Amino acid sequence: MRQILFRFPRSLSLFTLLLLAATSAHGDDDDGPRREERAGRHSATPVDPLYKSECSSCHMLYPPWLLPARSWKAILGGLAHHFGENAESDLKTVEHLSKVLQESSSDHSSQRLAQKIDRSIPSNTTPLKFSETTFFKRLHREVGAKVWQRKSIGTPGNCSACHAKAESGDFDEDGVRIPK
Ligand code: HEC
Ligand code: HEC
Repeated sequence: MRQILFRFPRSLSLFTLLLLAATSAHGDDDDGPRREERAGRHSATPVDPLYKSECSSCHMLYPPWLLPARSWKAILGGLAHHFGENAESDLKTVEHLSKVLQESSSDHSSQRLAQKIDRSIPSNTTPLKFSETTFFKRLHREVGAKVWQRKSIGTPGNCSACHAKAESGDFDEDGVRIPK
């Protein structure tokens, strides 16, 4: 009798677990792991307000996991001459951004796409633009040269021109829309 009492809740919880697993598997994308691997599933991490206010006035807010920590360090170290612009900030702000960006960089992220990006960047290089990496070029080999020259796009780094949800880290190919 004691044994039965003991076992009943155990099997019940196993059943609950199986049920939960089945429900969440059902809720997932039906395209399976391949698509998940390609697009990367990024749980919506709250955006740091200072990162947003300091770094999204001239361009979209780049997900930190597009570049490794050393790249963010280099970018933040050169804000006075940031791609021909002065994006300088006070030391305290830069220190804060440095922490925020490096903590979520490609080499500190557990997300699949971030890890793929990280593996694709040779460790002896420090790219300042994700849009100039070999991996970016490979992902976009189907986009013709003429398309990149459209005024509505401006530069390849203008991800959100084609990926509407780029700022939230969603680059799923289903959401791609190339503007005229
Ligand atoms: C004064 C305007 C300005 C501000 C403010 C600014 N940027 Fe930029 N940023 C630029 C310009 C211009 C480019 C180059 C655009 C191009 O050629 O594609 C750029 C490009 C970048 C790129 C490369 C994107 C890519 O892959 O092509 C990154 C990363 C970046 N900025 C990060 C930052 C961060 C971090 C901050 C905040 C500390 C910041 N930017 C603030 C003007 C600015
Ligand atoms: C000119 C429009 C355009 C711009 C700008 C652009 N992309 Fe894309 N991107 C595309 C297209 C088109 C694809 C291919 C979709 C497909 O595979 O069918 C793509 C694919 C991707 C993929 C792979 C998605 C998947 O599901 O396989 C990623 C990741 C990505 N882009 C990231 C970026 C990032 C980051 C930027 C900015 C630095 C950017 N893209 C800028 C058009 C663009």
